[in-house]
Amino acid sequence: MRATAIAQPNIALIKYWGKRDAQRNLPAVGSISITLNDLFTEMRVEFDSHLAADSLSINGSADEAMLPRLSACLDLVAGEPRSRARIVSRCNFPIAAGLASSASAFAALTVAAAAASGKSLDAEALANLAGRCSGSAARSLYGGFVELESRDRDIAVRALCGSDEWPLCVVVAVTETGPKAIGSTEAMEISRKTSPFYSSWVERQDEDLNAARAAIKDRDFEQLAVVAEHNCLKMHSMMWASRPPTVFWNSVTMRCLETIRMLQDDGVAVFFTIDAGPQVKAICLPEETDNVRASLASTEGVIDVMVTGLGEAARLLDVA
Ligand code: DP6
Repeated sequence: MRATAIAQPNIALIKYWGKRDAQRNLPAVGSISITLNDLFTEMRVEFDSHLAADSLSINGSADEAMLPRLSACLDLVAGEPRSRARIVSRCNFPIAAGLASSASAFAALTVAAAAASGKSLDAEALANLAGRCSGSAARSLYGGFVELESRDRDIAVRALCGSDEWPLCVVVAVTETGPKAIGSTEAMEISRKTSPFYSSWVERQDEDLNAARAAIKDRDFEQLAVVAEHNCLKMHSMMWASRPPTVFWNSVTMRCLETIRMLQDDGVAVFFTIDAGPQVKAICLPEETDNVRASLASTEGVIDVMVTGLGEAARLLDVA
């Protein structure tokens, strides 16, 4: 059977970093994210009993490097033993560069694989499966503002507010296009094992989650800005203090932060967040988008600027 699904990446405002159970890929902390609109990953999964092995193509080229992780996702979703599968992926933004490509990829793959193996699962079940493959992917099963709660044995994911209920905009400043030096999974384990700040990061996450949840409920942009920037800087500080240190930023990342500080000083409603890569995501009110885009585009060293609104949950496109 064959199915195609599409998912948008999401960007965490309150970050997931660290695992309570690496085997089951359970996050050590809860997180809150926004699902994006204009970036996407489409996945077609076709199970075929005549195939000897799984295969993967991304944007028309065969890809061996990502295949083992995608095959493991198929094992989990379809169950073993299973027929081998052809996986065909299309993605309209750089992969593994800190733009949450694994979130949209595993969300889309989970939805497509469940349908192609004849399983009818609700969003919560799909989110739990996607989260086993990549923690952030669980959040792309929902649209708008999404909270992921980390529980002892599983996760609970829910939408806090729809994309049309508080339509913020995101401007992504691309500061480097190559793949990042270290993946999140590995870097998280280094933080957990060696950073002197890891335990306080985990212990104090609820404070930030509470503040962000309240800000979203009240549509309080300033409050959300303060807590999101704090949470992002706290996560990166923890990584910088690990051994070996994990530093995802480059000098252009820092320059983008200065641009955003200048805009804020001029009264522009914008704040930044940075994930496991050197790109800077500026979140702003829709009326500030042109200003923020122009300011980041003219920041020295910025390679490209992408603009997106908030988007919807991962969904099935067709099944045959
Ligand atoms: C910094 O979801 O990529 O983007 O579960 O190991 O696949 P794995 O990690 P991943 O980590 C995302 C980290 C982050 C923060 C976030 O999205 O919450």
